[in-house]
Amino acid sequence: MSALLLLLLGLLSLFFFFCLLRGRNRRDGEPPLIKGWIPFIGKALEFGQDAHKFLEKHKRKYGDVFTVHLAGKYMTFIMDPLLYPSIIKHGRQLDFHEFAAKVAPVTFGYPFVVPALQEQIHRSFKLLQGDNLSTLTESMMGNLMLVLRQDHMGGERGGGWRSASMYDFCNSVMFEATFLTMYGRPAGASRHSGMSALRDDFVRFDNMFPLLIAGIPVWLLGRTKAVRDKLIGYFLPHRMSCWSNTSEFIRTRSGLFEQYDALRDVDKAAHHFAILWASVGNTIPATFWAVYYLVSHPAALQRVRQEIHDLLRLDGVEFSSDADLALDREQLEKLVYLESAINESLRLSSASMNIRVAQEDFSLRLDAERSLGVRKGDFIALYPQSMHLDPDIYAQPQSFRVDRYIRDGRLKTDFYKDGQKLKYYLMPFGSGSSMCPGRYFAVNEIKQFLCLLLLYFDLQLEEDQSRATQDLSRAGLGVMLPAADVRFRYKLRTV
Ligand code: HEM
Ligand SMILES: *[C@@H]1O[C@H](CO)[C@@H](O)[C@H](O)[C@H]1NC(C)=O
Ligand SMILES: *[C@@H]1O[C@H](CO)[C@@H](O)[C@H](O)[C@H]1NC(C)=O
Ligand SMILES: *[C@@H]1O[C@H](CO)[C@@H](O)[C@H](O)[C@H]1NC(C)=O
Repeated sequence: MSALLLLLLGLLSLFFFFCLLRGRNRRDGEPPLIKGWIPFIGKALEFGQDAHKFLEKHKRKYGDVFTVHLAGKYMTFIMDPLLYPSIIKHGRQLDFHEFAAKVAPVTFGYPFVVPALQEQIHRSFKLLQGDNLSTLTESMMGNLMLVLRQDHMGGERGGGWRSASMYDFCNSVMFEATFLTMYGRPAGASRHSGMSALRDDFVRFDNMFPLLIAGIPVWLLGRTKAVRDKLIGYFLPHRMSCWSNTSEFIRTRSGLFEQYDALRDVDKAAHHFAILWASVGNTIPATFWAVYYLVSHPAALQRVRQEIHDLLRLDGVEFSSDADLALDREQLEKLVYLESAINESLRLSSASMNIRVAQEDFSLRLDAERSLGVRKGDFIALYPQSMHLDPDIYAQPQSFRVDRYIRDGRLKTDFYKDGQKLKYYLMPFGSGSSMCPGRYFAVNEIKQFLCLLLLYFDLQLEEDQSRATQDLSRAGLGVMLPAADVRFRYKLRTV
């Protein structure tokens, strides 16, 4: 045996010995522990490749509750959705914000947020809901109409079929309309110049997002830091102060930042950039999947289109493709088939992990029979995608059914697991204290976009394409992107 090989073997065994010493062992009352053989990394690689498959496999072997060693963290997964309520209601012992407060600043490049500011930021989220949502919704409608009309409905080519890439189409319209709605417009112009360059930079940053969230230092990621700096630079106070019609939400946030002398202009700008990410990062892929599923299910599309026409007729609105359309918040709420279609595409495409950090050693009661030993600092995770794709809850879980959430023309809210009614059955927006504050706005803007698309255009998939599949690199972080874009045709309807 060569000396080199001996040396290697020696090192290897030392290494394993070291890991044995340092590794965690299961204690009584704790769930099964899955460590993997690679120190530190644990099972992270396998998890990262296909989280859903990984979790299903371990569920079959270890049951509904197990702990996985993922990149230095011990994460306990609660797989049975009937147990979700017992986790979600433990807001005090199982905290969400500790985790977010660490991850968001390094991802978006702002300094640690002091608790007082954190509290005020949290309160500002109310401006995405309630009365203020009506204003946002109204403004979004105008901006969608503006961008669609100028970019896709004008010109001599007006009458014929046009061909485009579907993700690209959704991205360009939703990105700009959302941007205008949240941040406003330059004084004296209806649109910002350089929007497509901004969007390209955004996509570049967004592609690196999973790596940043995973804690890879930004300086290891090539040009990512430069791209992020450029994006942040867009929101510097002297630029934003020239924009008009900025939403109450963003204006309030700017006002908050002004009260903190410790924040530099770039820090304020980085906060605004983070909100841009929050507001389009998931909404755009969610819009894509909703459009994709409807266009690839023509009967479903026709059902939804009919619902919109029926609503307009009932409300006495004379629709004509020459005139602009306005649909307010109350009208959007009546479109249940449309909402069911959106929920159904979120069920199929979202995979956000809900993470909580244990604040103390304690025994977590799961149900009448079971409790769980939890150590301070442990991560508890829910992975709702497993519920979304559970055939016991959703028959033929992989197929798109436009009326999945409808019964007898009304909202269906009873879904069952093992004969018991589920409190939570659809969780694309997180849960409890970490629930997305933009969820109502998000659903409304997707509804508006779809209404306009279905009313103004005929839509077809181009032939000879394979079905869209998901790029899994975002599993755990939100709505998945398609692995490849899809070609489609659209043509102005003449009504
Ligand atoms: C389909 C679209 C969307 C999805 C699926 C989505 C999903 C989520 C999820 C799962 C979280 C919680 C993160 C966690 O638990 O770690 C979250 C947080 C958040 N979302 Fe959304 N979101 C969407 C659209 C929006 C929009 C349009 C806005 C704003 C206009 C927004 C603003 C936020 C903010 C500010 C937070 C952080 C809340 C906090 O720190 O407590 N989201 N979102
Ligand atoms: C936002 O809501 C608050 C309180 O409901 C209200 O005073 C304010 O006028 C609203 N702003 C907008 C722009 O709707
Ligand atoms: C500004 O927003 C209000 C309401 O959101 C709208 O009525 C008005 O037309 C907008 N102004 C411009 C210049 O777009
Ligand atoms: C869609 O899902 C949301 C929760 O994400 C729920 O509040 C709403 O009632 C659902 N709508 C329909 C039509 O199922």
